[in-house]
Amino acid sequence: SWTMGSYINQSVAEIRAAVGDKKVLCALSGGVDSSVAAVLVHRAIGDNLTCMFVDHGLLRKNEADLVMQTFTQEFKMNVVKIDASKRFLDRLTDVSDPERKRKIIGEEFIRVFEEESKKLGHFDFLAQGTLYTDIIESGTATAATIKSHHNVGGLPEDMEFQLIEPLKSLFKDEVRELGTQLGISDDIVWRQPFPGPGLAIRIIGAVTGDKLALLKEADFVVRDEIKRSGLDREIWQYFAVLPDIRSVGVMGDERTYAYTIGIRAVTSKDGMTADWARIPYDVLERLSTRLVNEVPNVNRVVYDITSKPPATIEWE
Ligand code: XMP
Repeated sequence: SWTMGSYINQSVAEIRAAVGDKKVLCALSGGVDSSVAAVLVHRAIGDNLTCMFVDHGLLRKNEADLVMQTFTQEFKMNVVKIDASKRFLDRLTDVSDPERKRKIIGEEFIRVFEEESKKLGHFDFLAQGTLYTDIIESGTATAATIKSHHNVGGLPEDMEFQLIEPLKSLFKDEVRELGTQLGISDDIVWRQPFPGPGLAIRIIGAVTGDKLALLKEADFVVRDEIKRSGLDREIWQYFAVLPDIRSVGVMGDERTYAYTIGIRAVTSKDGMTADWARIPYDVLERLSTRLVNEVPNVNRVVYDITSKPPATIEWE
């Protein structure tokens, strides 16, 4: 009978047989798939695996630290962190079109990856966390045409690597189970989906350092409150959006003119369709109070009550 334990053993044996003594590179994003793939490959070949973690600066609060801590401290893996935030922010200056943002981020990611991987020496293999569903979906052109869905980590086709894709026969729930069996913490295994272009597509209009800092704080509050309320496993995605508007408010005796935060929370099976989550009013109330109190320059909070379709999950 098929068990996760035997899957791990078989997969480890296959990776060892394929790789031998050669070196493997992996683009670690901290998402579930690349994390599980990296830990599995590491179990097979240890220090012959090098992971590259490109921090494009569009990640959530504390995310880069969590990824580095998990894989270097707990798993003792070789992870090279590339802080490319300035490069990405520079290239995004004054760019407000969603598809242009995606394109720029995707291209810049490839550029950084190529430049930095050269510095790390020669690799024959590239490990990727491709899932069964990724293979099926890339064969069809359905939702992909609505948004260009650059999964940052999508790498140049002309790079001369042999691919190692140890998850390519698995579904997401199996990958989560595998991750847990490999000893990866729930913080990573039960992570909500996070788009490759990161917070850039949750800031409507042009991305600036200030807006990024504001959204990181707001998103942190949303995640924290949803988790405290015990809703984090029933809601598919829950996050803050920063629309390009300011509105008038009053605090104490003062008139304010500050940003609005949109809360987006949806239930879904696969992200293709989604319904807005029926978050209890008391949780919404705490979210509203905390966002205004804890995030400077925010004076209004709205809840997005559109399903997909006709809206999409992300606002861009
Ligand atoms: P939408 O907004 O199209 O999102 O309803 C469906 C799912 O895809 C994620 N998403 C992306 N993921 N690169 C990604 O890797 C992208 O450009 C991108 N755009 C949306 C979104 O978070 C949701 O899970």
